[in-house]
Amino acid sequence: MNTLHRLEGRLLLEGVSLDALAERFGTPLYVYSRQALEEAYQAYVQAFSETPHLICYAVKANSSLAILNFFAGLGTGFDIVSGGELARVLAAGGDPSKIVFSGVGKTADEMRAAIKAGILCFNVESLSELHRLSRVAGEMGRIAPVSFRVNPDVDPKTHPYISTGLKENKFGVPIADAPALYRLAASLPNLKVTGIDCHIGSQLIDLSPLADAADRVLALVDALAAEGITLHHIDLGGGVGIRYNDETPPDLDAYGRALAARFSGRHEKLLLEPGRSLVGNAGLLLTRVEYLKPGDGKNFAIVDVAMNDLMRPALYEAYHEIISVKQKNGSPTRYDIVGPICETGDFIGFARDMCIEEGDLLAILSTGAYGMSMASNYNSRPRAAEVLVNKNEIHLIRERETQDSLMACERLVY
Ligand code: LLP
Repeated sequence: MNTLHRLEGRLLLEGVSLDALAERFGTPLYVYSRQALEEAYQAYVQAFSETPHLICYAVKANSSLAILNFFAGLGTGFDIVSGGELARVLAAGGDPSKIVFSGVGKTADEMRAAIKAGILCFNVESLSELHRLSRVAGEMGRIAPVSFRVNPDVDPKTHPYISTGLKENKFGVPIADAPALYRLAASLPNLKVTGIDCHIGSQLIDLSPLADAADRVLALVDALAAEGITLHHIDLGGGVGIRYNDETPPDLDAYGRALAARFSGRHEKLLLEPGRSLVGNAGLLLTRVEYLKPGDGKNFAIVDVAMNDLMRPALYEAYHEIISVKQKNGSPTRYDIVGPICETGDFIGFARDMCIEEGDLLAILSTGAYGMSMASNYNSRPRAAEVLVNKNEIHLIRERETQDSLMACERLVY
């Protein structure tokens, strides 16, 4: 994270001291850097400058209204997967004509809301979904824009829970079935075929599966064109990985060049659906050390962040770098950094060598993506507050939940 730096022993994000933020807003606290968000977006703009394109930010990575509003201001589109995400994008000022709607389980209500809003397209993931969309659009007297999400069956070489483009995954339609589905869609009066989509997985470190998927999709687009079915856009999904630990993420410029070579002379617009690579390294999570607890053969640092605040370590054994906000000299001790939740799976990081005391503030890095958006209230824990910093400005973009807000929708029976 380029916008995180030390100055006279203090840790600053842009011009803002993390100690001061924790004092003012408490912990756990998600903190995002506006500059880092902007730089991540500009890296895409630059890498794909040779190819007419639209970046559709994958809302699931971080759906905070202020972040969506920031991207809307940059002119991005959005990739949504639920009616809730649609409502958020609209509330944040997103342009509905730049929204693509992915997901295997779209309900009729969600389809209605998206048609009413006038989205760019539905990324249709099954024959049944196509029939439902056709019926819903017919009932509304409207024409729904259709793009099939095809499953190209390439191995993205990532964690099995976040790979999506293999034939055993639930996503998309098999690429071999696509021509027949396109013919059917083109024949239905309330549907208009507009594009094609694929997304093979997330946190991809190797470019070659992305390039392989692109080649398979382009071959299909050409075969469709030969039949007279022409598409307006080709959406190659998200998936570009980031550095959490010692990974070397794909070179975005090289990806841009690889696609520019493939898109040169084509008329279709390129769409991309990045999530993690736009927000992941723009955010960190502040936590306080509550207790240091020597165990049998190991030491625990019990912090006030838990798996409900940051689920990635528990769910994927994901690595997040953890650093002390105050620099301390001395010989480090090895700790398992764990949360207060009553599950052994409630860990944030194993075997970290750190100089820490009770009461110290720690920063869990690279938590801008799939951090807050996956947070829950497990163990009746209010979700964290969120702050966006811009140079020296501090903006509270989400208040910490309260016990009252947590109980507001519940009713007693007896
Ligand atoms: N488009 C579609 C259709 C997707 O399913 C996803 C992510 C994206 C775009 C964005 O992918 P990205 O650029 O962020 O890799 N919770 C997991 C990640 C799940 C990703 C699911 N799909 C994690 O914390 O690693």
